Amino acid sequence: MAPAYLRARPGTPLRGRIRAPGDKSISHRSLILGAMASGVTEVEGLLEGDDVLRTAAAMRAFGAGVEQLGEGRWRVEGRGGFSEPADIVDCGNAGTGVRLIMGAAAGYPLSVTFTGDASLKRRPMMRVMTPLTQMGAGFICRQGGRLPLSLRGGNLNGIAYRLPEPSAQVKSAILLAGLGAHGLTEVIEPEPTRDHTERMLRAFGATVTVRDEGMERYILMEPGQTLTGTAIRVPGDPSSAAFPIVAALITPGSAVTVEGVLLNPLRTGLFLTLREMGADLEISNQREEGGELVGDITARHSALRGVDVPADRAPSMIDEYPILSTAAAFAEGPTVMRGLGELMVKESDRLALTTDGLTACGVGVERDGDQLTVVGSVRANHPVKGGAQVATHGDHRIAMSHLVLGLAADEPVSVDEPGMIATSFPEFVGLMTGLGAGIEAA
Ligand code: S3P
Repeated sequence: MAPAYLRARPGTPLRGRIRAPGDKSISHRSLILGAMASGVTEVEGLLEGDDVLRTAAAMRAFGAGVEQLGEGRWRVEGRGGFSEPADIVDCGNAGTGVRLIMGAAAGYPLSVTFTGDASLKRRPMMRVMTPLTQMGAGFICRQGGRLPLSLRGGNLNGIAYRLPEPSAQVKSAILLAGLGAHGLTEVIEPEPTRDHTERMLRAFGATVTVRDEGMERYILMEPGQTLTGTAIRVPGDPSSAAFPIVAALITPGSAVTVEGVLLNPLRTGLFLTLREMGADLEISNQREEGGELVGDITARHSALRGVDVPADRAPSMIDEYPILSTAAAFAEGPTVMRGLGELMVKESDRLALTTDGLTACGVGVERDGDQLTVVGSVRANHPVKGGAQVATHGDHRIAMSHLVLGLAADEPVSVDEPGMIATSFPEFVGLMTGLGAGIEAA
């Protein structure tokens, strides 16, 4: 049982090497594509967080054979398509899970009802339902396009769809639905977002064509393509590696190496930003694993300075703004983060909770529409007061970001609902305390 609160206390440096947990985005896609494919997909390094385990259960409900062979090792036996689940599919906290599965399921002649936890039931699903409806899928949902919702799939037509907001989840839902559609499917992105679906579709034998025109990206898929099971090695998640890395940067005396981190440029906006802030980040042992660039990242305590983070960087670090805000709290001078509208529709309203959490910890924060400014420290020695109990509203990244802040603040910081950390980073407390961090049940 998870404790009611976790508390992070300052005073100890972090030192050592850890392996980043498996990437959440690639883990979901491994199971979903494996279930849609014909034949066996073997996955190594799967993230065994609650979100991904929900997707594993969902894939079983759609008829695939899904079994765990060992730690992080999974076997998916795809049946070349989905069959109709016998019951409601509950995706828990996972926006990626439910949106990608909606897209995949829409391509098959079946009916299914999806639900999720309280957070997921508040999140917008219309962004996925709109294009899938244009392709020919039918939906019944709660007011405002919320879960629970029912989907009737099958007999889809391809569409050309310009995404109104940069969202890899929406792009992926359309591409997965387009696999079995009649005619071409084209997605036009206002700016490129994480491209794991495109890369992994290719690994499963599909042809996906990508073309850039200015900032826009055109992704085209021919109809009538089938997928064949394959072997997948899941790289370490940069969005999870972010927490020990920022903890080392802000805690005096620290030096931490996180091994095997995914370095796909559509995911590394945080590392670029931290370097601009003066972070001592060293990337070594760069190599290709499973079609993705990975490397080991060493972070050493650094004197950070505030920077201006442009709006067009948001897609490459969308999940990292809460932890960047923690780093910014310890920087000399203000950090301005622009174009953060999408943060309001994540597992919580992260723009509001980051503002509230930092304010409670004595950090100067100014919010102006979709822009956040963390004022940063003027005194380099004891800049951040801490001493707060932060309400996370069940958001794993809000919890971890404030715990990291507590490691370098003047006074301990505690967070509620710490059990939710297991949605994306079940080993967080064990790995962090192993590095020397003072994190304990409160
Ligand atoms: C994800 C896409 C992003 C990100 C999420 C994972 C994915 O969401 O926030 O954690 O795996 O495709 P959006 O598509 O809503 O930006």
